[in-house]
Amino acid sequence: TVLILDFGSQYSHLITRRVREAGVYCELLPCTQKIAELKFRPKGVILSGSPFSITDEGAPHVDPEVFTMGVPVLGICYGLQEVARNLGGETSLAVKREYGHAELHLDPQADHHSFKLFQDVPSPTIVWMSHGDHLERPPQDFVVIGSTPTSEYAAVAHESLPIYGIQFHPEVTHSADGALILRNFVVGICGCEANWTMSSFIDKELERIRALVGPHGSVIGAVSGGVDSTVAAVLMKRAIGDRFHAVLVDNGVMRLNECEQVKKTLADNLGINLTVADASELFLGRLKGVTDPEKKRKIIGNTFVEVFEAEAHKIDAVSQQSGLGAIEWLLQGTLYPDVIESISFKGPSATIKSHHNVGGLLEDMRLKLIEPLRELFKDEVRALGALLEIPEDLVWRHPFPGPGIAIRVLGEVTPEQVQIARLADNIYIDEIKKAGLYRQISQAYAALLPVRSVGVMGDQRTYEQVIALRAVETKDFMTADWFPMPVDVLKRISNRIINEVKGVNRVLYDVSSKPPSTIEFE
Ligand code: XMP
Repeated sequence: TVLILDFGSQYSHLITRRVREAGVYCELLPCTQKIAELKFRPKGVILSGSPFSITDEGAPHVDPEVFTMGVPVLGICYGLQEVARNLGGETSLAVKREYGHAELHLDPQADHHSFKLFQDVPSPTIVWMSHGDHLERPPQDFVVIGSTPTSEYAAVAHESLPIYGIQFHPEVTHSADGALILRNFVVGICGCEANWTMSSFIDKELERIRALVGPHGSVIGAVSGGVDSTVAAVLMKRAIGDRFHAVLVDNGVMRLNECEQVKKTLADNLGINLTVADASELFLGRLKGVTDPEKKRKIIGNTFVEVFEAEAHKIDAVSQQSGLGAIEWLLQGTLYPDVIESISFKGPSATIKSHHNVGGLLEDMRLKLIEPLRELFKDEVRALGALLEIPEDLVWRHPFPGPGIAIRVLGEVTPEQVQIARLADNIYIDEIKKAGLYRQISQAYAALLPVRSVGVMGDQRTYEQVIALRAVETKDFMTADWFPMPVDVLKRISNRIINEVKGVNRVLYDVSSKPPSTIEFE
């Protein structure tokens, strides 16, 4: 394991990504982590960048033991300043902040250990700079191994110890050989084996789940048909069989035939012990007359918790009656980005965000949380899903919001409106798949707008509703670009929707990016 200490840089999680991509398992912890209190012994440490300046009052610092425990250390940007501060260098504020591409000229000596850091990296190479502080003078006993026209000490290494500092950010893709430099550090220098793969994860995780839950323990969890909850459910099924109880809540605002399809895949094909709670009437009843998006979200969220809890109590009662004992665990499909978000360093006033749990079940039924995906990124979950033989369709499914079609039917959510949005969405996604574009698009859906417009069909004047098509490309869903849908595909979609979906006489394509628009309409 490689330890990444986070000083709060917006790029910290990318360091974790790149190291994992190199096949090496790593964990990100706040920079305030005491080395003596670590639960594992790292083979190397990476210090991240930071929004702080090293000269700020209250600037965060690492446990000095990082430098004495005898493993390689790589300081990135602020991490480099931290190396210098601990080992006697001088930092100063750069006269001008440096931001953007720079040409890094390498100068490691072939017989020096730093040679390994830049193994196979051409000189010069383009790197990404983003910093305010810079080194005024490298620490004693350090040699310069790389420089840019504006940073004389862009890369330094200790003369004899495996301690390195780099001013640029190898973790961002703008640094042409950044991934290679990080791999050189974790594999070549720290000596980690590149064996972090999903199949090794499955075996380890199944063992961990079995040990945690014990030979008789039972677990309950909600599934939605999305990739995270499905992968988590399949892992539980493999680990403990029917002692895992999955609940699918039909909230009446899922996509066309989705509930049946999810049931078929999870229960019939994957053999998961599944209960479907059809609460669509309850949900749609409560949504009657509601037009405010936030109110819709609240109603759906609260009703979901209510229905899930009632189901959990029923399943628990049956389990106890049949002598299998009480349910003890609640499954949650938490992913690593959520974990990072809740543990990452946010300055001296760090607040720890708690995860959203399902209602009061944790206290009420005294359930303990089990989170088998908490070490994984989304693409790792997909790779895992493929290994677990989950159908490809499901593994690559676009994310779908909890409030479902309710926030895609603008205005009041009636069963009739939901049906129109469903039919249009189904055609849209079907044509996207037929055109082979589904995987290029991060998320796509049809929204039903609360307006009517005039049209003509045959000799008849029509006055009907409008469908808006949305498709975006994004990496993190925080920012997104609208997808340039080919015109012929748009033509087919529009023709089909207007001809096949009663009540719609106009189709629009959304060409707004996020920000300022959001991905969802509501
Ligand atoms: P926005 O519309 O904020 O969406 O750009 C970003 C991502 O979040 C999803 N989303 C939600 N997911 N409950 C959810 O589970 C919600 O209330 C919700 N609102 C938005 C959205 O689909 C997109 O992937």
